[in-house]
Amino acid sequence: MCGIVGYVGPLAPSNRPLQVTLEGLARLEYRGYDSAGVALVTPDGLTSAKKAGKLANLREELAERPLPDATVAIGHTRWATHGAPTDANAHPHLSADGRLAVIHNGIIENFQALKAELDGTAFTSETDTEVVAHLLGRAYEETGDLTAAMLAVTPRLEGAYTLLAVHADEPATVVGARRNSPLVIGLGDGENFLGSDVAAFISHTKEALEMGQDQVVTITADDVRVVDADGNPAEGRRFTVDWDASAAVKGGFPTFMAKEIHDQPKAVADTLLGRTDGHGNLILDELRIDESILRSVDKIIVVACGTAAYAGHVAKYAIEHWCRIPVEVELAHEFRYRDPVVSEKTLVVAISQSGETMDTIMAVRHAREQGAKVLAVVNTHGSTIPRESDAVLYTHAGPEVAVASTKAFLAQITACYLLGLYLAQLRGNKYPDEVAGYLDELAQMPAKIQQVIDNEDQIREVARAMKDTTSVLFLGRHVGYPVALEGALKLKELAYIHAEGFAAGELKHGPIALVEEGQAVFFIVPTPRRPLLHNKVISNIQEVRARGARTLVIAEEGDDAVNEFAEVIFRVPRTPTLMMPLVTVVPLQIFACELAGAKGLDVDQPRNLAKSVTVE
Ligand code: M6R
Repeated sequence: MCGIVGYVGPLAPSNRPLQVTLEGLARLEYRGYDSAGVALVTPDGLTSAKKAGKLANLREELAERPLPDATVAIGHTRWATHGAPTDANAHPHLSADGRLAVIHNGIIENFQALKAELDGTAFTSETDTEVVAHLLGRAYEETGDLTAAMLAVTPRLEGAYTLLAVHADEPATVVGARRNSPLVIGLGDGENFLGSDVAAFISHTKEALEMGQDQVVTITADDVRVVDADGNPAEGRRFTVDWDASAAVKGGFPTFMAKEIHDQPKAVADTLLGRTDGHGNLILDELRIDESILRSVDKIIVVACGTAAYAGHVAKYAIEHWCRIPVEVELAHEFRYRDPVVSEKTLVVAISQSGETMDTIMAVRHAREQGAKVLAVVNTHGSTIPRESDAVLYTHAGPEVAVASTKAFLAQITACYLLGLYLAQLRGNKYPDEVAGYLDELAQMPAKIQQVIDNEDQIREVARAMKDTTSVLFLGRHVGYPVALEGALKLKELAYIHAEGFAAGELKHGPIALVEEGQAVFFIVPTPRRPLLHNKVISNIQEVRARGARTLVIAEEGDDAVNEFAEVIFRVPRTPTLMMPLVTVVPLQIFACELAGAKGLDVDQPRNLAKSVTVE
């Protein structure tokens, strides 16, 4: 889960290769921020710079020791796997003669064995990547061609990699390769780009080419050549990015997370756009599954990680209710190791913002090997999961830069609801007017989400006042339960506060022992129009209140039953039960964002984390 950028421009050396690369790295820093580095090919040969810490450290280094003008550049921002985040372990890594530089995202699992073969070579880092630099250096000595060297070395590598390499003798070329790790090609005019995702080059071109598994690409200023592992010409899938560079800047907000919270009404509205054909029938983005197979599905398994899994958990309530199909939600990294019961009648739904989460990719592959059909709910075009799935429903949340997922979560719930309604329509579980009714409810959600955001000052004030809190519990029932889990995750990852989410009914089975005087407890209260659920949660609030807890309650406008037992009430608009997660999670996002900021923490780049987890 590192960020990778490559650039080739005109043969006249300039500082554009470095500038484009640094700009791309800034957009990819969400992928990892343990260290950053660049390598350039200049008329005098290869030169490079790298620095531990965030990109700002590398920029300082380059300001003190500027690099000469160049024709090509590669750049890397790292999330450490092998070796601590030090200057020495930062990428790029160089071949023994210092004429070839390589950057890498992924893990070379057989690097120890390969290293043993390189007996006598002096290693300067603890990384797996340096082994590749030396292997490529040797292969280049034999072939005198960077593409040929890459084709010779990559079959020997086990694990996951995106590799970019440049060589002093090839001042007009960057060569890339990928396996189980992302690489997208940006098609420019008299210049070409490579990136871990399109954000790397979005301010220069929106035209892009997906790269398939085990392919090698050679870019020059005017040409892009993709070949398969045997060196035969291969086709990439061309696409146009549907957002522009302005979507990936903070736009006046202090953090990307704050901006992305404010993007949520649009993320939901955009995800709902253009979903029906001329006859009011719902349609998916890509469907390579026969409709008769979807009609015969007898079980759905959602595979996902983190926030995306919580979106799946919310979706379970709606899909089971609308389609009467049993839905299991499985953390993707647990799925393939427990021998799941999967058949041709199982539909596996893989949810992922990035489309590159390795645990989810492996679950998708396992599901397909077992004969299941896989439908992807993904935000990032050109990523691996939709490419490897049988059907795709894209969320249109736009680029999500902050490590903590917010707008992707709301867009994932929205897309899963569309999927549920699509299946209900296809299988005849719901009449067209019923589907239309639910779509109407969804269409009203952007305005309701906006209403919650408009009240953010109250939430922010409470969050700042609680900045010294050391433990927070989150309780919810029904669809409020995954919202509680998500609220706790947000607080953990951003504010480094011990936080736990529980099903409110579970309280008396153990967690209530944690409650003592002053313990902060959030409650996600269902609408009073579901009295059975609502009354139970009111009782739960009373139970913790009686034990001295501070109760922070998210409740619908007009729900006065909570007044007596709530220390703080965050109001959300009147909303049907299944739609409630789209509004009740918002105060929890704002709370975590503000509290982390009040503690002086880096909201967009929390410690130890990276945006896409591209290792297992
Ligand atoms: O890109 P994905 O949606 O597959 O990512 C899944 C999780 O890694 C992600 O949601 C993670 O839990 C976030 N940091 C949560 O805010």
